[in-house]
Formats: sequence, structure tokens, C-alpha cells
Amino acid sequence: MNRLSCFVLMIALCVGFSNARPKNTVHIFNYLLGKNILRVHCISDEDDLGTHLLNPGQTYNFSFQDSVFKTKVDCQLWQGINFKFFKKFRAYESGGVIVHYGKQNFWYAKEDGIYFTHGQEAPKLEYNWTDVSLLKG
Ligand SMILES: *[C@@H]1O[C@H](CO)[C@@H](O)[C@H](O)[C@H]1NC(C)=O
Ligand SMILES: *[C@@H]1O[C@H](CO)[C@@H](O)[C@H](O)[C@H]1NC(C)=O
Repeated sequence: MNRLSCFVLMIALCVGFSNARPKNTVHIFNYLLGKNILRVHCISDEDDLGTHLLNPGQTYNFSFQDSVFKTKVDCQLWQGINFKFFKKFRAYESGGVIVHYGKQNFWYAKEDGIYFTHGQEAPKLEYNWTDVSLLKG
């Protein structure tokens, strides 16, 4: 086997391997009360995932592979009257050199804040809502 075909084979193995690994998933749940709609907008290094509206009880999730570079996903959530409660946070971050796979990040939007768990532990309050109507003017 010459060098070039050896190199091509290596790339093929790498690509095949990375495609076979389970993806990482971010889940966002609307656990708000009444008819409180949750607006979600997430952006990763690679994609603007667009704006999504969730009714209470609904879930939004998306899956991705860690890239060779640091993978980051930032999400913005809004809820309440005129979507006045807001929070922006890092919903996912790769370990850098260590490539994660099959990692699950669960975020729960509740009335008193945003809760987080990787799935094993009970969700823990991670962020409070900011009332952006108080910031204007
Ligand atoms: C993500 O959401 C879809 C549609 O709601 C659902 O069918 C799927 O099972 C979810 N995936 C995971 C990994 O929870
Ligand atoms: C959220 O707010 C409560 C009270 O307003 C405070 O005690 C708590 O430390 C805050 N939590 C976070 C994660 O900022």
C-alpha cells in the first residue's frame, strides 16, 4: 500500500468512526405553568438553530457531534408576558481535547428558573430569569 492510499484509508476510518458514535443531545423542556409559552433560540459554532416556541409540556431537542475544535452551544430562552423573562446560557460545551459522545444535557424551564441535569441526578437550579422589562428605559 502506498502512502496516499494509507492516508485515504485512515481518513475513511476516522470519518466512519465519528459517524458511528452516538451524538450529543441538548434537551429543553417547557415546565412552565398555565399557558406560558417558552421561546428558544440556540446557536452552535456551526449552526443557527432558529427560534422555536414550546407550549408547556413540550420538549425541543437537537443532536450533534463534537467537532475537532471546541464545540459550544449557546441558548437564549424567553417566557412570560411579552417574553419579559430572559436568560442566555451555555447549554453545551465540549471538553476540548476530549471528544464527548452520547452526552445528554437536559434543561428545564420552570417558573423560578432554569434547571439542569445530565440525566443521572435530579435537576438542579442553575440560572434565574432576568426581567428584561426592568432593564429598558
Ligand atoms: C427529540 O425530540 C423528538 C421529537 O419531539 C423525539 O421524537 C425524540 O425522541 C427526541 N430525542 C431524544 C434523544 O430525546
Ligand atoms: C436565584 O435567586 C435566588 C433568590 O432570588 C437566590 O437565592 C439564588 O442564589 C439565585 N440562584 C442563582 C443560580 O443565581
